[in-house]
Amino acid sequence: MSDEITVHPVAWPPAPIRTERLVLRESEARDRAAIIELFASPEVNAYLGGPQARDELERALPETPEKRPGLFVVELDGAMIGTVELKQPDAEQRSQVSRDAGEAELGYLFLPQAWGRGYAAEACAAVLGWFADARPGEPVVLATQTANDRGMRLAAKLGFTEVKLFEAWGAEQWMGVWSSEASARSSAAL
Ligand SMILES: CC(C)(COP(=O)(O)OP(=O)(O)OC[C@H]1O[C@@H](n2cnc3c(N)ncnc32)[C@H](O)[C@@H]1OP(=O)(O)O)[C@@H](O)C(=O)NCCC(=O)NCCS
Repeated sequence: MSDEITVHPVAWPPAPIRTERLVLRESEARDRAAIIELFASPEVNAYLGGPQARDELERALPETPEKRPGLFVVELDGAMIGTVELKQPDAEQRSQVSRDAGEAELGYLFLPQAWGRGYAAEACAAVLGWFADARPGEPVVLATQTANDRGMRLAAKLGFTEVKLFEAWGAEQWMGVWSSEASARSSAAL
């Protein structure tokens, strides 16, 4: 049996997704500075293993940042403010984060100056909507440190429900799951 991680066969890249205030699109060369900012920021990486050295990022990042299926750059008024990614967990994470081997995992990273305006929620909801259209009924998982208040609040707002708590990477982690069907049921019940 192959140990390969199967990437969900979704059409990629999709046409840019437009929300009320944002555009979600594939990464481009002009996003490079904001991507470096994202990974070098102590605030953004407080619960993600800490920031990376800016000069190393400058050296290592290609002129055109990597384009990966499922990686959306979030743009506000023509400039990148964050990323939302739906990815397959890697082999190390799979046993911890996934309920089974195949679930897509949601991740979100926004520049601190864009926090507190609802942009992350707006962008993530659009990505989940896109995924629900592409892979109807398929669940999405998410893991974040329980100490990450903003990350936890956003997960709850998006409709993720708790699967388990677990210890990993030196901290307590929360794992949640979302599916379009469960999300529609709970909205209908409100
Ligand atoms: C996690 C993260 C994306 C959350 O960002 P955020 O801006 O707090 O999230 P939201 O988009 O849900 O915005 C919520 C806030 O916007 C406020 N807001 C203002 N205008 C709003 C609007 N028009 N609509 C909705 N909310 C609005 C809300 O009241 C809320 O404020 P509060 O934080 O004071 O409660 C951000 O903190 C981040 O990038 N953290 C670092 C990366 C990380 O830890 N990721 C998690 C691991 S995957």
